[in-house]
Amino acid sequence: MRLDIVSIFPEYFSPLDVSLIGKARERGTLDVRVHQLRDWTHDVHKTVDDTPYGGGPGMVMKPEVWGEAIDAVIAEGAADGDDEAPAAPRIIVPTPSGRPFTQEIAQELAAEPWLLFACGRYEGIDSRVMREYGTRMRVDELSIGDYVLAGGEVAVLVMVEAIGRLLPGVLGNVHSAVDDSFAPGAMRNLLEGPVFTKPPVWRGHEVPEVLLSGHHGKIARWRRDEALRRTIANRPELAAAIDPATLDKHDRKLLEELAFRVGPEDMAH
Ligand code: ADE
Repeated sequence: MRLDIVSIFPEYFSPLDVSLIGKARERGTLDVRVHQLRDWTHDVHKTVDDTPYGGGPGMVMKPEVWGEAIDAVIAEGAADGDDEAPAAPRIIVPTPSGRPFTQEIAQELAAEPWLLFACGRYEGIDSRVMREYGTRMRVDELSIGDYVLAGGEVAVLVMVEAIGRLLPGVLGNVHSAVDDSFAPGAMRNLLEGPVFTKPPVWRGHEVPEVLLSGHHGKIARWRRDEALRRTIANRPELAAAIDPATLDKHDRKLLEELAFRVGPEDMAH
């Protein structure tokens, strides 16, 4: 997968040299290229922003510099690509006003051959940039959560890690991503429960006995109970959205004990 990142702070992306993503880059699974937006300015001050039309606080990133940067990165990528490579990347713009970035979107993006991340700072990028490229390729404005960061760089790090670990061969254990909270499957939309390793007793705290029993059926049941409990406690809105058809008798009993109802009112029980 090819990833291009355009930012006025390329230094932000040094974490992509380490750990799983760093190894994936060394192996060539991931081809990450970070570009300095200011390289496409033409004035001595390398200006990338200006005051907003209509007034208000802050500054807006200028469309001309973004247009030149994105055109150049696309031209370079298209020239480097083999015959199989698409002529255009999918463009991702991190912004707190975007659609929520979820595991489902991470999975969708992990299947793309080429992504271009455009990091905004200040009040954001002139909207015409997204409109212009949106006529020619897919452009997604995505938010990593309901809080405001100083710029898109950290959001891009988050997205690249979430996407990168889903690429074939990036995770050491191929099963690791299967049990993730939010991964598709039987445990979909359930948070993962607590985990333990040796020693069996630490500072007087014991590992739950069932985990030492070697009884795979009981362990699976215990894990599902803990996942349900944790989801209800920490993310009641996720728990409420569980499809009642996916619940077995034991699940229903646990939910009853916890006095928690799932699904539409008339379908519960
Ligand atoms: N830029 C600033 N805040 C952001 C957020 N929450 N998500 C994505 N990009 C952002």
